[in-house]
Amino acid sequence: MAKGSLYIGLMSGTSLDGVDAVIIDGSATKLLSQTYLPYTHDLKEQLRTLSQTGQTSLENLATIDVQVAHVFADAVHALLESSNTRATQISVIGSHGQTVFHKGGKYSMQIGHGSIIAERTGIAVVNDFRMNDIAASGQGAPLTPAYHQHLLGNKDGVVINLGGIANLTQISKSVVTGFDTGPANTLLDNWIKKCKQLDYDRDGIWARSGFISDDLLSALLADSYFKKPSPKSTGPEYFNLEWLNSYLTGTETDADVQRTLVELTAMSISKHIPKNTNVYLCGGGVHNLFLAERLAYLNPHSEMMTTDDLGMPVDYVEAAAFAFFAQQTLKGKTSSLPLVTGAKGARILGAIYAAQ
Ligand SMILES: Nc1ncnc2c1ncn2[C@@H]1O[C@H](COP(=O)(O)OP(=O)(O)O)[C@@H](O)[C@H]1O
Ligand SMILES: [Mg+2]
Repeated sequence: MAKGSLYIGLMSGTSLDGVDAVIIDGSATKLLSQTYLPYTHDLKEQLRTLSQTGQTSLENLATIDVQVAHVFADAVHALLESSNTRATQISVIGSHGQTVFHKGGKYSMQIGHGSIIAERTGIAVVNDFRMNDIAASGQGAPLTPAYHQHLLGNKDGVVINLGGIANLTQISKSVVTGFDTGPANTLLDNWIKKCKQLDYDRDGIWARSGFISDDLLSALLADSYFKKPSPKSTGPEYFNLEWLNSYLTGTETDADVQRTLVELTAMSISKHIPKNTNVYLCGGGVHNLFLAERLAYLNPHSEMMTTDDLGMPVDYVEAAAFAFFAQQTLKGKTSSLPLVTGAKGARILGAIYAAQ
């Protein structure tokens, strides 16, 4: 393996917006450089169809696996160039890849082949982080709680990642718990896409213009996922427009649905936030000002902050997590938390592709 002392992390979540790429130092708490490479419209639409329907040909799946890997490799090149870093300074790349199918406890499939990234960058790659945990009877998700714990140091607190799906980590007296609470942005993005052909509701302005439909909100909140005990994890295979449509009565206006979905996200998260806790938000949903406002409103007894307050910018926590996990894997250290994923034990995560 390369002798570099720096680590690269690459992440694209269920929002399918594009690749977040970071360079972190050996302590894994300091962000040295970052970039973001959006997916093209065409690739995003292909991934959206694939991840929501699970339907494609093997040829398409193999092709898109390589195509996504090239975007991830492009992100590494852009990152090295913009930060004036040489590939030899990097020890390893931790690449989460793009999840196209996840069923907690059964399988979790990320694409963006490690061979392509290793070949195009000359840097070793660790990817396919989730299957080791699933092989040990775990959910394979969420994995980031271990990194949230690392970021918090010895402090207690709650970290909430507002990606396509929301995941919550609670650290109390060094005990870490965490699970996917349900949707964060995925339904918001899909609904505005359907109604207005926009990728997302900028700053939550459209949602703010609508009114909560109480009947719809209580029906959505009664969905069995929200009642399931943890460990649990989910994805857009479950929370998608088909799921939403099964609850719509046809009497709600489009804006009222968007408003109700914001409340669904805020309420399904808030019911798990204990009082008098320090809460650190991260993920793209932090930029949805209306959602952030609703979370603050529903949690008047907690201090609402962001991971910026821990020194890690909100948009890069997840990418940094996978750089950290790759570092752990090379050291032969475990990264999964059995209490979170439900696995038989902690596991060294990922598959290693040697530097070429
Ligand atoms: N200004 C904004 N207003 C509202 N939502 C935003 C804004 N910026 C980002 N987002 C939301 O954040 C999402 C991307 O968040 P991200 O953390 O990258 O999710 P993921 O981990 O699923 O890729 C976008 O799809 C969008 O829903
Ligand atoms: Mg993203």
